[in-house]
Amino acid sequence: MKSRKFEFKPFSRKQKKLIYWWHPESPVSDRKIVIADGAIRSGKTIAMICGFFLWSLNSFRNGAAFILAGKTVGALKKNVIKPTLEILTAWGVPYHYVSSGDEARIEVGGNVYYLYDAHNERSQDRLQGLTAAGALLDEVALMPRSFVEQAMGRCSVAGSRLWFNCNPEKPSHFVKTDLIDQAESKKVYHLHFMMEDNLSLDPEIRAWYETAFTGVFYRRFILGEWALTDGLVYPDYANHPQTYEITQIPAIQHAVIGVDFGGTGSAHSFTLTGFTPGYEKTVILSEYYHCNKDGKALSPLELEEAFVAFVRQAKQQFRVYEAYCDSAEQTLIQGLRLAVAKAGLGINVRNAIKEPINERIVFTNSMFAQGRLLVHSSCKQTAKALREAVYDSKIRTEDVRLDDGTTNIDSLDSFEYSVEALMKDIFYLRR
Ligand SMILES: Nc1ncnc2c1ncn2[C@@H]1O[C@H](COP(=O)(O)OP(=O)(O)OP(=O)(O)O)[C@@H](O)[C@H]1O
Ligand SMILES: [Mg+2]
Repeated sequence: MKSRKFEFKPFSRKQKKLIYWWHPESPVSDRKIVIADGAIRSGKTIAMICGFFLWSLNSFRNGAAFILAGKTVGALKKNVIKPTLEILTAWGVPYHYVSSGDEARIEVGGNVYYLYDAHNERSQDRLQGLTAAGALLDEVALMPRSFVEQAMGRCSVAGSRLWFNCNPEKPSHFVKTDLIDQAESKKVYHLHFMMEDNLSLDPEIRAWYETAFTGVFYRRFILGEWALTDGLVYPDYANHPQTYEITQIPAIQHAVIGVDFGGTGSAHSFTLTGFTPGYEKTVILSEYYHCNKDGKALSPLELEEAFVAFVRQAKQQFRVYEAYCDSAEQTLIQGLRLAVAKAGLGINVRNAIKEPINERIVFTNSMFAQGRLLVHSSCKQTAKALREAVYDSKIRTEDVRLDDGTTNIDSLDSFEYSVEALMKDIFYLRR
C-alpha cells in the first residue's frame, strides 16, 4: 500500500536546527544525542523524523539497523510511522514496510528501521542483542528508563546517534536530570520547542490549546517547562468545586456507564456520564457507590441487582447503550451481561479500554480548565474523590496518582471508564 505524500510547510529555524545538527558543518555535530523537548504541537516529531532519515540515509547504507520507538504500538504508528511513510513518499524515496510481528520494520535504501513499543519494564528485552547505528525515541519521557538505557547501549556502531523528543514531565525525571542537565558531559544537544516553532500551526488552534490547559499542564504542555505538580491531581476542581456543580441537567444526547469493581478493601462504583450535543459538555449525571469494607461486601447477585437497578434508572432518563467495566474481573462482567439481558435491558456491557492513568488525568483537567466537565450535585462520592485525589509523594521521578486505599480511586476509575472511548473526540472537538 502506498502512502500519501506529506505536505510540507516551511520549517522554522528551530526545526532546521533539529534536522541538520548532525551535519559535518554544524557547530554541534560532535554531540551524540539530540533532545527536543517542549510544548505540544510544536513540530518536534516531524522535524525529528526528517532529520533522522536524512542523517541515517546519508551516513549509513547496506544493512545498518536503527531503532524507531514510541510509547505504544498505536502511538508509534500514528505519530511516527504514518508521517515517516508520507515523508519518504514526498521525497520520492522507496521503502518496504512490514507492519506487524516481532520483526516489524521499515526498510529504506539497505537500512532497516525496527519498530518498538516501550510501555513496560519488559519492553527492553526485545532490544537485546541488537547492534544499532541510531535510535529515534518519540515521547521518550513516557518510556521506562530501562528501555531508554538499553537503546543507548545498543547504539554501539561508530558514528551512531540518538534522537529523543518529549513533552516535559516532573523536574526530577531522569531525562531532565541525567541528560538535559548534564548536556555537556553527556554530549547532548538540547533544543527547546515552543508552539511558535511550528509555522504550520493555525493561530486559532494555537490559541485554543492555550486555553485548554491550566496549572502544571499549562506549564508543561504550553510553556514546555519541566514543572512540578502541586500535590492535588485536580486542583481547579478541588479549589472551586462549586464552579463545576450543577443541579439542572442540560439536554443530553446520550450517556455511558463506567463500572469499577471493588475488592474487600475498596468499593464498587458505577458512574453515568452524559454528553450534550456535539460533545460540547460532559456531565457526571449519577453514581452508585458501595464500599466493601467492614464486612459489608456484596454477593455477586447483589452486585448484579444493583447494576440492573442503576441501568434501568439511567435508561428511563437518557439514551444509554454502553457500559465499560474494569476488565480485570471477567466473571463479574459476564454476570452483569446475563443480568441485564435477563432484565430485558438493551445495553452493551464491554471491557474498559484502560488508557494510561496520566492520560485520563490530563483529559479530566483539561475539561475542567475549559469549563466543559460538570458534576451533578447528587454525585457526592465522585465530588469527594475529585477533591481529594493527590499524587503519591513517595514517588519522586514520576507522577503517580495515590492509590493506597486512603482516597477514593474507585469513583475516578468508573468515571474514566465511562468517557475513555470518547476522550479523543471530546478533547479535539475544537481543533
Ligand atoms: N514543516 C511542517 N510542514 C507541515 N506540517 C508540519 C510541519 N511541522 C509540523 N507540522 C505539523 O504540525 C503538527 C504538530 O507537529 P508534531 O507532531 O511534529 O509536533 P510535536 O511537537 O511532536 O507535538 P506533540 O508534543 O503533541 O507530539 C503535526 O500535524 C505536523 O504534521
Ligand atoms: Mg510528537
